[in-house]
Amino acid sequence: MIIFYKTEEIETFILDLKSKHKTIGFVPTMGALHEGHVSLVKESKLVCDFTIVSVFVNPTQFNNIADFEKYPINSESDIKILQEIACDVLFLPTKEEIYTANYVFPKIDLGLLDQVLEGKHRPGHFKGVIQVVYRLFEIIRPTKAFFGLKDFQQLAVIKKMTDFFDFNIAIIPCKTIRENDGLAMSSRNMRLSQTQRIEALFIFESLILAKNLAPKLSPIECKKIIEDRYLESSLKLEYFEIINPESFEILITNWCENAVACAVAYVGDVRLIDNMVLN
Ligand code: PAJ
Repeated sequence: MIIFYKTEEIETFILDLKSKHKTIGFVPTMGALHEGHVSLVKESKLVCDFTIVSVFVNPTQFNNIADFEKYPINSESDIKILQEIACDVLFLPTKEEIYTANYVFPKIDLGLLDQVLEGKHRPGHFKGVIQVVYRLFEIIRPTKAFFGLKDFQQLAVIKKMTDFFDFNIAIIPCKTIRENDGLAMSSRNMRLSQTQRIEALFIFESLILAKNLAPKLSPIECKKIIEDRYLESSLKLEYFEIINPESFEILITNWCENAVACAVAYVGDVRLIDNMVLN
């Protein structure tokens, strides 16, 4: 695996790949890699000639400085994991390589996507995600880019950005990888104590409960029951919403096809996110 730290160097390398008409698969990450990330890399390796992973903990997408400071960094283990699965290239830029002086970032109106769920609860978060992914897309110019359905809204934001700026990149959604008991894999899980790890399972259980309730109740009734259950748990619920997966409108009385329940809850000070298709 080749590791690049400098934008200029990876750009030269990519020019060469392009001249040889190789397809490039790209998996952007913030590191602290786990099986969820690995599944994206494997998917890319299946369908592209060359797979590039980036590891960059992007400061501009953290609306909470403590969350940024506590974000797990594990470069040695990341390199080892990527080598084991025969990833072709790792891009490990510094902040200065990404956010060069005088760089003018693109503007895009996300509409409702920036007003509900993560957009509402993490002001500025998607602006930061767009900044970094736009910049990475410019550098890597991949044929396909792979994103996890675990971050369902992020995936929609990236699709919108790709269309809006006419990037000729196929955005490939990849299914959520879970621990054996159901907890969605996340870099943040590393911060959970043993007890918290058990408590965290409640998020997955609440989504399963919603799925079971869905045929009998309206979305709002479903939401109310789940919210009450969280009050009895040790978790602090930030939001539980059932949405239309296309428009991101919050469902109240009527169901739509493939309605998605989206949950964010704190286990101690660790913020965890998950979602599930209900019908
Ligand atoms: P990060 O949280 O490191 O996630 C990188 C990619 O892995 C994202 O597409 C995410 O959805 C996916 N992923 C994380 N956990 C997963 C799981 N359990 N199953 C499947 N896929 C999973 O998301 C980001 O980084 C950043 O916002 C980024 C897009 C890199 C921009 O900075």
